Amino acid sequence: MASITVQLPQKSYEIAIASGHLDQLGRKMESLNLGKKVLLVSNPEIFAHYGERAIISLQEAGFDVSDCILPSGEEYKTPQNLNCIYDAALAHRLERSSTIVALGGGVVGDMTGFAAATWLRGLNVVQVPTSLLAMVDAAIGGKTGVNHPQGKNLIGAFHQPRLVLIDPEVLKTLPLREFRGGMAEVIKYGVIWDAELFFQMENSQSLDDINNLTPGLLEEILIKSCQSKAHVVAKDEKESGLRAILNYGHTIGHAVESLTGYTAVTHGEAVSIGMVAASGLALELGMWDEQSDRRQLVLIEKASLPTKLPDGLDIDDILVSLQTDKKVKAGKVRFVLPTGIGSVTVTDKVSQDVLRRVLLRIS
Ligand code: GLY
Repeated sequence: MASITVQLPQKSYEIAIASGHLDQLGRKMESLNLGKKVLLVSNPEIFAHYGERAIISLQEAGFDVSDCILPSGEEYKTPQNLNCIYDAALAHRLERSSTIVALGGGVVGDMTGFAAATWLRGLNVVQVPTSLLAMVDAAIGGKTGVNHPQGKNLIGAFHQPRLVLIDPEVLKTLPLREFRGGMAEVIKYGVIWDAELFFQMENSQSLDDINNLTPGLLEEILIKSCQSKAHVVAKDEKESGLRAILNYGHTIGHAVESLTGYTAVTHGEAVSIGMVAASGLALELGMWDEQSDRRQLVLIEKASLPTKLPDGLDIDDILVSLQTDKKVKAGKVRFVLPTGIGSVTVTDKVSQDVLRRVLLRIS
């Protein structure tokens, strides 16, 4: 279906998108001349669905495979649970030329990437994302890490994969809530970068179920989102500038996730709430208009994503939590705010009064 290259000065890599591609995993990795030892990391649900196919594909290509199963859920994305991967790496005697394959969603991908970045000071990692969110965002670009109780992804490293292999067929078993969470990141690309993708989503009757998308839209969503991400990462691999735009909706989103213990709302739901808040801030600051705010809201509602803060969340706690955000610079929280459909800007000129007013409006 598509092959997109993430062009990087050190090691460029392919995002390969095709139905049925899971069975090509071994063949694709063989062509990268990687060492023969592979550790496959997954979670119980994904491993039950797709583990055997991935392992057979790897073994048929001559790889010596062992596996490691992580518990499912963002609340388990902790430094302690990395030991599961490190122990398996030790038991399987992984070497510097070995590869850890992440077969799963964002949690599996982030933890596996971080383990690969740190074990023996760096092994190869291949990302095989199985959720929409991981396909369009988390698996691409080399951000890896785990959460700290005080904040999301505070412990992490940049470690680019050698390959991202996307098989859209695996989305058939993705729970509805997770599909919708992935749509939050897709809507994000429409707002920050790709106005055409935004229009295509506006023209779809529904965005809340993979089975209700207009024909061809899923393909467009995957290709266009991956192209946007590849483009931004190629221009600014380590987030010294442009890449910050990918955090649209994530500043308040991360605060919501960490204050609710990573269990009450999914990452995509938190991003959705964060985008509604960012749109409200942009309106207050006169950066964009009511009509654009409305259009974004309609897409978010079409994907059945939340638009309000979870019950019981204290606005003062959100304001404190924002201070631990990775984007804080010289003590000032930086927000990615929309200026039009397909464009955003980064600003630290949001007063506490404006922030409080917008948060009150969505509580
Ligand atoms: N998910 C945001 C980034 O990769 O930069």
